[in-house]
Amino acid sequence: MDAAVSVVEPAIKVTRLSKSFICCKALDEVSLEIRPGEMVALIGASGSGKSTLLRHVTGLTLGDRDLGSIEVLGKPVQSCGRPSRHIRAIRARVGFVFQQFNLVGRLPVMTNVLTGTLGRMPLWRSLTGAFPEADRRLALDALDRVGIADKAWERASALSGGQQQRAAIARTLVQKAEIILADEPIASLDPESSRRVMESLARINAEDKVTVVVSLHQVDFAIRFCPRTVALKAGRVVYDGPSAALTPQLLRDLYGSEVDELDGIEGVQGSASFVTGIHTSHAAALAG
Ligand SMILES: Nc1ncnc2c1ncn2[C@@H]1O[C@H](COP(=O)(O)OP(=O)(O)OP(=O)(O)O)[C@@H](O)[C@H]1O
Ligand SMILES: [Mg+2]
Repeated sequence: MDAAVSVVEPAIKVTRLSKSFICCKALDEVSLEIRPGEMVALIGASGSGKSTLLRHVTGLTLGDRDLGSIEVLGKPVQSCGRPSRHIRAIRARVGFVFQQFNLVGRLPVMTNVLTGTLGRMPLWRSLTGAFPEADRRLALDALDRVGIADKAWERASALSGGQQQRAAIARTLVQKAEIILADEPIASLDPESSRRVMESLARINAEDKVTVVVSLHQVDFAIRFCPRTVALKAGRVVYDGPSAALTPQLLRDLYGSEVDELDGIEGVQGSASFVTGIHTSHAAALAG
């Protein structure tokens, strides 16, 4: 093909995807294209459909049957509620990061990170538990890149939440993931740990051109680390554009009732800081 006319496939292409549960329509004709190398925040109030959308991108959940399709890295994941035969191969190229880290606490950090290689390892070798020297070096390098090489031989459960999350990110590096989907990776972390986790994701995005989609409740982190934001409300895309152009009006519209609900709930780092985060960062983003 003539390089001059070659068209880069979207990393993720969602077309008119809907998902109905008994209670509600969690996704309502969502269409979205994410280009390779983008870093995109997915925001929206609790129940707006962020996790449901990310699960559909992995093919873990199938959409409604009447309409809708998803392609990842140019290959179909699902169409009209039916899975594609490419799903396993695609999943090997997509790394996942979850709020609860999904590490095996009793195993060393190193072993947890090395499980990232399992997708490309022959079954017999994975059963022996013996990882090639090259993969061990890759794992140490990945831990170094996320700033926790000194924790390689500690049990995962001995690490702080932020360190565990960075180990989970290192696992996606070892996996050589081309896309990272992170579902609220900083929801249970303090602000400093959150910053380090988001910096790790941003660095991998910038240096390795890995596409990152990260769902967040903290709008200030979306504005700071993600050039583009997609906002969901009741399963619909209500904003898709530069994070710096988010307006206080849209944020109030997205979170208004939730901010009230957050008041007084233990574990939420104060709805005041949540609101302050939105307004100060937004002001900073507008100013800067
Ligand atoms: N397996 C399921 N069965 C029934 N309803 C579901 C299921 N999964 C999600 N839902 C519903 O779909 C809607 C979207 O849920 P989802 O978890 O995607 O929201 P979210 O934006 O990730 O919220 P949060 O910020 O709280 O994580 C909610 O109303 C939820 O109750
Ligand atoms: Mg969720």
